[in-house]
Amino acid sequence: KPLVFSGVQPTGNLHLGNYLGAIRKFVALQENNDCIYCVVDLHAITAQLVHDDLRGQIRSIAAAFIASGIDPVKHIVFNQSAVPQHAELAWVFNCVARIGWMNRMTQFKDKAGKDRENASLGLLAYPSLMAADILVYRATHVPVGDDQKQHLELARDIAQKFNIDFQDKIRTTGTGVDMVVGEEPIHGYFPLVEPLIDGPAPRVMSLRDGTKKMSKSDPSDLSRINLMDDADEIAKKIRKAKTDPEGLPSEIEGLAGRPEADNLVGIYAALADRTKADVLKEYGGQQFSVFKPALADLAVEVLAPISAEMRRLLDDTSHIDAILRDGGERAAARAQKVMGEVFDIVGFLR
Ligand code: TYM
Repeated sequence: KPLVFSGVQPTGNLHLGNYLGAIRKFVALQENNDCIYCVVDLHAITAQLVHDDLRGQIRSIAAAFIASGIDPVKHIVFNQSAVPQHAELAWVFNCVARIGWMNRMTQFKDKAGKDRENASLGLLAYPSLMAADILVYRATHVPVGDDQKQHLELARDIAQKFNIDFQDKIRTTGTGVDMVVGEEPIHGYFPLVEPLIDGPAPRVMSLRDGTKKMSKSDPSDLSRINLMDDADEIAKKIRKAKTDPEGLPSEIEGLAGRPEADNLVGIYAALADRTKADVLKEYGGQQFSVFKPALADLAVEVLAPISAEMRRLLDDTSHIDAILRDGGERAAARAQKVMGEVFDIVGFLR
């Protein structure tokens, strides 16, 4: 079975972008894959060091995973800091990756802002830790939203450079596997990860501005639907969502140049597990005064049971903590094996 890995940061409230771009896909992938889903708490301190309630945030992401339908018994749900091998492999990757690669990351440039010299070293090295998250399990498939694409390309670059730089050691330690890079067959250790970004909502946009990504950090709460919003808030935010004066087109091509309309149709399609073309077959020619209430009803139908279950799970933290502890132990057992082999390849004495 292919091994799937993905992570979500415990910073701020989860929103519809996180749900449609990531968590909903995590749920679907469980059927045919072996899955590891991680609350990436080590990443959470890269942009902001001190948090009011980091533990509560970690539990809340884990609760969102489980309330959305992730099975923590058949698969693995844990928090990153419980498995020290993530940080250990990240250190090796810090020595594989080049500073120039990190400097080119658009997320780093956005988050660091103008005062780049004053950003934390952890923020610069963030993608190296992210590569380690995935590769410490030698996972091959990574479901994420479109904004993580560049980071996954970097994970491939790191794996490739490691495989090439250590190819002789990989062969002599007998740890590698045959793989093809481009056309060339090599004996490498780390797989080149496949991003899973497809679907109708790989990039959910702000409800206030169809050219901006829906994000936890947008100052306007009207710009996003939070997973914990109640039915009234969801309906209000969709009613107030920016649109243009025209009705919905009947064909997908008619959404070109209409980012707000495109976004709402994509959200509907993702929530209903349909394609955008299929949604337009039903709503083409209709006004937003008809489409928006239908979208609000659908969003409430999908999200209300998830937020209710999250609240229930968070009522008794001992249950969530036990799930994370068990997941952490199972993840660590796998990570230890890979890290031992990495020690052999690099040549550390153990
Ligand atoms: P994070 O915590 O910012 O976001 C979690 C997931 O939600 C997706 N996402 C979106 N998808 C569609 N539309 C949006 N507006 C939107 N906003 C967020 C993100 O793409 C992500 O999939 N670096 C990662 C966490 C991470 C990770 C990993 C992911 C750490 N290690 C290893 C995969 C594999 C992040 O900051 O996600």
